[in-house]
Amino acid sequence: MIEHVAQPGWVAVERYLSDVVVHPDASLKRAVQSAVDAGMPPIEVAPNAGKLLKMLVQLSGARRVLEIGTLAGFSTIWMAQGLPDDGRLVTCEYLPFHAGVARANVDAAGLGDKVDIRVGAALDTLPTLVSEVEREGPFDFVFIDADKENDANYLDWAIRLGRSGTAIVMDNVIWDGAILEPSRDEVNAPGIVSALQMMGRDERLDATAIQTVGSKGWDGFALARVR
Ligand code: SAH
Ligand code: DHB
Ligand code: MG
Repeated sequence: MIEHVAQPGWVAVERYLSDVVVHPDASLKRAVQSAVDAGMPPIEVAPNAGKLLKMLVQLSGARRVLEIGTLAGFSTIWMAQGLPDDGRLVTCEYLPFHAGVARANVDAAGLGDKVDIRVGAALDTLPTLVSEVEREGPFDFVFIDADKENDANYLDWAIRLGRSGTAIVMDNVIWDGAILEPSRDEVNAPGIVSALQMMGRDERLDATAIQTVGSKGWDGFALARVR
C-alpha cells in the first residue's frame, strides 16, 4: 500500500469546494461519519468526485449502474441520487461488514429500493450478473473502485456487462505517481498499469485519464466509453 500524502492546501481547497459548490446532503455526511465510527478505512471518493459521479450518471442518462467496491456506500449514494425513479444500482462488496454498514447508509438515504448490494469477491459475483443483464438489459454506467490488482479484469467485465456507449469510471489510477514506478507498490500499481494499458489499446474502448489532488493526495481517475 502506498502512503498518500496530501498537502494542507489541497485538503483546505477540497473542503471549500465541498462546502461552497458541492453541498453533500445529510445522508452523505452520515455515510462518511458511519465509516469513521466503524473504523473503516477513510478511502471513499472526495465529495467533489462523488458529485461528479452523480452528474455523469445524470448526463449519460443511465438507468442501470454497476459499482465494484462499496465500502460504506458513499459513492453508491451519490450515484443512486443521480438515477431516475425507475433506475437501479448494483454494487459489489467483498466484506460482509462493509456491506452491512453500506446497507444501513443507503436505506437511511431513502435509496433502499434502488440499490442491490452483492456480497463476495467481485470476480465471483460479476458472472452472476450475466443472466440478469440478459433479462433486464446492460449496465449504462460502471464505477470501478475495489482491489486494484483486478482493475483490468473489472474493466473487461464492465465491457461484457455493458453496451455500446456504456461509460466506465475507474478510481485511483495515479496512485501517488507509482504507476511510473510500480516497484513502489508491487500489489496495486501493476494492476492499475495493466488497466491503463488496456484502456489505451483495447479496440472496444475510448478512454482518457485525469490526475487530481485533494485529501487523498496525488490521485486521479480514468473515464472510458465502450465503442
Ligand atoms: N467506492 C467506495 C470506496 C470503495 S473502497 C466509495 O468511494 O465510497 C474499496 C472497497 O472494495 C472496500 O470496501 C473493499 O472491501 C472492497 N473490495 C476489496 N476487494 C474486493 C473484491 N475482490 N471484490 C469486491 N469488493 C472488494
Ligand atoms: C485507497 C483509496 C481508494 O480510493 C481506494 O479505492 C482504495 C485504496 C487508498 O488510498 O489506499
Ligand atoms: Mg477509490
